[in-house]
Amino acid sequence: MIVSTQKLFDHAYGKYAVGAYNINNAEQIMGLFRGNMDSKAPFIIQLSKGARSYTDTRLLEAMIRAAPDAIFAVHLDHGDEKTCYDCIDSGFYSSVMIDASHESFDENIAATRRVVDRAHAKGISVEAELGKLGGVEEHVSVDEADAKLTDPKQVKEFVERSGCDSLACAIGTSHGAYKFSGGQGLHFDVIEQIARLMPRFPLVMHGSSSVPQDEVTRINAAGGKLKGAKGVDEAQITKASTMGVTKVNIDTDGRLVWCRVHRECFRDDPENFDLRPAGKVFMAEYAKYIVHKNKVLGSAGQLDSVRAFINK
Ligand code: 13P
Repeated sequence: MIVSTQKLFDHAYGKYAVGAYNINNAEQIMGLFRGNMDSKAPFIIQLSKGARSYTDTRLLEAMIRAAPDAIFAVHLDHGDEKTCYDCIDSGFYSSVMIDASHESFDENIAATRRVVDRAHAKGISVEAELGKLGGVEEHVSVDEADAKLTDPKQVKEFVERSGCDSLACAIGTSHGAYKFSGGQGLHFDVIEQIARLMPRFPLVMHGSSSVPQDEVTRINAAGGKLKGAKGVDEAQITKASTMGVTKVNIDTDGRLVWCRVHRECFRDDPENFDLRPAGKVFMAEYAKYIVHKNKVLGSAGQLDSVRAFINK
């Protein structure tokens, strides 16, 4: 059942975080649903502009719509204004993200406000971003040197003037497989200050992949070249999930599972050219990853409670 993103946040806030997983194809959808059902977790399925242009959007959406007995929201990740309007008009999305974080403070507010007005008229909620995460994501690319933590003092004004429903904050993470090369961690002081100023306002952590070192080792042993790839410590994700971080975005880890499975499958059976053996292993391994991650987030086991909360 597709539900409102805000409802999921209302249930989760301060207790656990909802996993927001990026998907691009059928195998990811199958693995994602299986993992969330196995761990009895509510979740958010995220499509980016890139995912929407990679496949036929209508086919991808139809597959999600036909999904079994799960409870989840559908979210546009890192939209520009035009993509937000397309998604709002499609009637399929529970929420959209307008990413105008590369603009000035006032321009960011103005763009977010325009999207909020259109989205709220249709009961869709809006995530905005304040601060600058490092790395590349869709139309926004930020050098590490230009990355900027969210300034807690700006948050209240930003939220009030833009009308956004949740906020992606830059708290030290970056997109992709190369984070924290110097061993840094999350800026809990920033999370704490924002949560104090904005009680019960859902915060979103982007760049949350933990880049499991076991995956990196196996990928490299099977011919990959991911030197120095590093992610977010899982204990820190668990801690943030009880402090107001209510949505945790994960894309890279799913790609690593895909990469490891396919590299190993073709290395170990070089005569095979059938896509299904690797596809089967991938769906099972991705599901296993989702189960594990939902335990880290605290969303595992929440399904019945969320169902009751939504049907109240
Ligand atoms: P990762 O690259 O760490 O998976 O982050 C993904 C993300 O934040 C998508 O919005």
